[in-house]
Amino acid sequence: MSDAMPTVETLRWVGDCDGELVLLDQTELPVDCLERHCSDLESVCEAIRALRVRGAPAIGIAAAYGVCVGLCGMADRDVAGLFERLEVVVERLAASRPTAVNLFWALQRMRSRAEALRASTSATSIRRALLTEAQAIHAEDREMCRAIGAHGAPLLEDGMGVLTHCNAGGLATSEYGTALAVLFTAEEQGKRLRVFVDETRPLLQGARLTAWELGQRGIDTTLICDSMAAQVMREGRVQTVVTGADRIAANGDTANKIGTYGLAVLAEAHQIPFYVAAPTNTFDMTLESGEDIPIEERDAREVTHGFGRRTAPRDVGVYNPAFDVTPARLIRGLITERGLISPVTMESIAALVAQPTGVPRSGETGKVS
Ligand code: MRU
Repeated sequence: MSDAMPTVETLRWVGDCDGELVLLDQTELPVDCLERHCSDLESVCEAIRALRVRGAPAIGIAAAYGVCVGLCGMADRDVAGLFERLEVVVERLAASRPTAVNLFWALQRMRSRAEALRASTSATSIRRALLTEAQAIHAEDREMCRAIGAHGAPLLEDGMGVLTHCNAGGLATSEYGTALAVLFTAEEQGKRLRVFVDETRPLLQGARLTAWELGQRGIDTTLICDSMAAQVMREGRVQTVVTGADRIAANGDTANKIGTYGLAVLAEAHQIPFYVAAPTNTFDMTLESGEDIPIEERDAREVTHGFGRRTAPRDVGVYNPAFDVTPARLIRGLITERGLISPVTMESIAALVAQPTGVPRSGETGKVS
């Protein structure tokens, strides 16, 4: 067994309830490791929109701290004003990105915490409680990611080729990841993997972030263009595919970074198991199927100017959905912090995910958006 590998610190809170959120700016990686200090609401919203902080769990944690940032400086006696401001803050954060349900889950949890304290006469004590709640969301994510790693690692064998897409690593969570947690744990158990990383057009989260994270941990990594996955599979180099998720419907249909659905189709064609790793707060039990998952469309320039200069004719029409939906039937298993869901059916998901835990999941307390 090897020593535990180093982790990244995706984001942290500095100070008391009048403190600030500090993010590792992911748009600068892998060239620069720069921190960004967010001390007003707009800077948190901008960081989420611009993908300075990204990945479903990390977006949720950032939004929870974003609520604290948005309430900084409120007068202690102005409890009514705090609740009015809270609605504005939640609404602004909820409008930052539409697909990752963790964002709405975290905002709802923060709002519920505040509601429970409505009778309080001190805005400061409510703000302190909200900071504690955000810190709890952050700490729980650390634990969930470790548990996902532990449940997923047995699926991987020494010497396996594993393909992953986008970035579902430490950078997309508190520190350890979901899909990459499975790989990290297997490696920590002494299994040696050959990891193929899709570069993940148009914003290259695979090349910029996943390849960087795997390299930091000394894991055997091979970067490929997205369009090479079929050939790499046909050559027999891949035995398992593991990705993350942004929202999983009650029937197991899974939204994740654009290109994931294509990979799942390819995996089926090559009889390669396709797994999705995600915490249970990525499940949206209010949606029957993936048909209803909102898919974010992003700026055309991400496609036409992907490498810092124009790579397409001026005025060409562009379609840029940031996510796609993989039907449940293509997914061999969902790796959660509570265990593996396989086969993926509405019943098997309900049996594992709908168990009460004391912590609300998406849909249990109503939605923010
Ligand atoms: O647009 P992004 O970079 O936020 O998309 C991220 C993904 O699609 C991840 O795979 C997903 O959020 C899971 S992160 C553990």
